[in-house]
Amino acid sequence: MEWVKEFYSRTGDWWAGAEAVVTDEDRQRAAAIRAHAGDGPRRVLELGSGYGAAAVATALAGHTVTAVELGDRATHTPRLAARHHVPDDRLTLVRGDFYQVRLDGRFDAVTYWDGFGVGTDDDQRRLLTRIARDWLTPGGVALIDVYNPFVWAARHGTREHRDRRPADGYPYELEKLLTFDPHTSTATDTWWETAHPERRLSQRLRCYTPADLTLLLTGTGLHLEEVHPDGDLRDTAWSYLAVLTG
Ligand SMILES: C[S@@+](CC[C@H](N)C(=O)[O-])C[C@H]1O[C@@H](n2cnc3c(N)ncnc32)[C@H](O)[C@@H]1O
Repeated sequence: MEWVKEFYSRTGDWWAGAEAVVTDEDRQRAAAIRAHAGDGPRRVLELGSGYGAAAVATALAGHTVTAVELGDRATHTPRLAARHHVPDDRLTLVRGDFYQVRLDGRFDAVTYWDGFGVGTDDDQRRLLTRIARDWLTPGGVALIDVYNPFVWAARHGTREHRDRRPADGYPYELEKLLTFDPHTSTATDTWWETAHPERRLSQRLRCYTPADLTLLLTGTGLHLEEVHPDGDLRDTAWSYLAVLTG
């Protein structure tokens, strides 16, 4: 998993100007916490919080948030929190690896937006077991975006060119190649600056159908309660929200 810190930190440098902002998607994530964890302020642990936009939206919805992030995208979180006047005691940023961190207390909701699937199946099981054993309160809920293999597989070999749009916060001209290995159900998403084709960065994402996820969860202490795809799982949903309970 050595690629993780470099991939998200470098791509974060490319995109932060446009994307380190609180959007409707972040407010929808906060609304999903309320829908699945219930009304009222909750203690929320957000894993892989990136720039911190969802963590800020969650804090603004009244919850107390601990956000864990390994890479440099986290440098944007204090600025975003200040811009949105998040009270200091509502959002704690922990810069570290969620496989290693020690956190105080338990959480009514654990979220992992757009990131689950890095590493091996054993790595995912270690994380799911930590969520169940170390972090969730009895009756708590985990909300995890899971990448859907049907859609990633159908886009195998797709190339994309992105023009520079400095006025919109995208200062780099970029290329992307998406591949999918059907044997391991793993998508590889490779990016490079058009001016530097020799400097490529890849993220590798293990994708799970809901049936695969159910198998993965065996023995972790978590169970799949609900699946909410962001489209049709057969051909448009890049991911689905898995609602997990202990
Ligand atoms: C695709 S980004 C999504 C960020 C954010 N959740 C969002 O939706 O914008 C995945 C994030 O997870 C973080 N991440 C991956 N593995 C991690 C780990 N072991 N510990 C902490 N953060 C991790 C990455 O650094 C990256 O910022």
